[in-house]
Amino acid sequence: MKTLTVGLAERSYPIHIGSGLLSRPELLLPHLPHKKTAIVTNTVVAPLYLESLSALLQAQGITVLPILLPDGEQYKNTETLGLIYQALLTHRCERTTPLIALGGGVIGDMTGYAAATYLRGVPFIQIPTTLLAQVDSSVGGKTGINHTLGKNMIGAFYQPQAVLADITTLNTLADQELRAGLAEVIKYGLIRDLDFFQWLEQNMDKLLARDASALQYAITCSCQHKAEVVAADERESGERALLNLGHTFGHAIETGMGYGEWLHGEAVAAGTIMAADLSCRLGWISAQDTARIRSLFERAGLPVLGPALGEEKYLQLMGLDKKVAGGKMRFILLKSIGHAVLSADVPPNLLRQTLAACVHD
Ligand code: NAD
Ligand code: GLY
Repeated sequence: MKTLTVGLAERSYPIHIGSGLLSRPELLLPHLPHKKTAIVTNTVVAPLYLESLSALLQAQGITVLPILLPDGEQYKNTETLGLIYQALLTHRCERTTPLIALGGGVIGDMTGYAAATYLRGVPFIQIPTTLLAQVDSSVGGKTGINHTLGKNMIGAFYQPQAVLADITTLNTLADQELRAGLAEVIKYGLIRDLDFFQWLEQNMDKLLARDASALQYAITCSCQHKAEVVAADERESGERALLNLGHTFGHAIETGMGYGEWLHGEAVAAGTIMAADLSCRLGWISAQDTARIRSLFERAGLPVLGPALGEEKYLQLMGLDKKVAGGKMRFILLKSIGHAVLSADVPPNLLRQTLAACVHD
């Protein structure tokens, strides 16, 4: 097992990464001093991992309240959030009752937001069970839900007490979900680590074959990057915005298609190709590097063209991005592979050219 730390002074917390961690109660017990917890999960993850985790904790004298939510991005909303509050209130959970998020990014984001708001804040622990959640969403404290008008528009920055990324849980993940997680892994290489990008080019086949040591390396490297960025800029006043490479386009795809139609990681993949294409049109990265980036996403089995929403729809949805400042769209773009920047100076004609070139006919 490898343990990293997200350094946030008195709110610092560990990220444990390894195989078989869900059989190790000692990693959770220090965070459950009051011997009671609520485990929030969904109807897909529960049959796989809820019973064994509950039994493990109960054997240690912990009372467990399971809270089962419907599965899917389309349920990441106020109505489902209400189900969590309802269960916590019905069972008289107190401020000392930590919530455990057991699942992918949807469960993690919603549980974190419930923890941030229930009784004005209760502790929570992330147990991410998708690759995407293990490398990105479980770390850093962005919690929230979608609004019909925009992705992740309601939320709070609220850090967990600990993150337990058990690589063994990835064995039950669908191939399409594994690939979606790889989009966020490639992102770290593109924004701040050329060596890692090259390592991904050399090891993509191993990752797709779920080689445990390749996964352990990729998850650890990704979490190390995320932990460093979050420690430096927890509330995204600067560097953290770079983690949104591909997301301005990607969120437009997710919202425009209807939540759940495109996986988040798939939308980020197509969005990252758009960001690379735009960077190339600005004269920042070469056509060869743009092709190299597209090729890695293709090898990961990810979409490299966005859906045909129509140029105006893309522009309208991108105008709702959280990075918009003073009414002006801001983009994360690439100066080179391994170096991303935030830019507000994108000529509208180049943006339209990218939208024309990078979506399906
Ligand atoms: P997800 O949570 O919907 O999980 C994908 C699917 O896999 C679901 O059907 C889920 O039930 C299932 N699943 C989960 N673990 C499994 C396992 N071990 N075996 C079999 N099936 C399993 O999707 P995701 O890709 O994990 O997360 C996407 C969400 O994360 C989006 O809502 C996105 O906005 C959010 N996100 C948040 C942040 C952040 O910083 N908070 C960062 C990136 C993404
Ligand atoms: N996933 C982007 C962030 O956490 O900032």
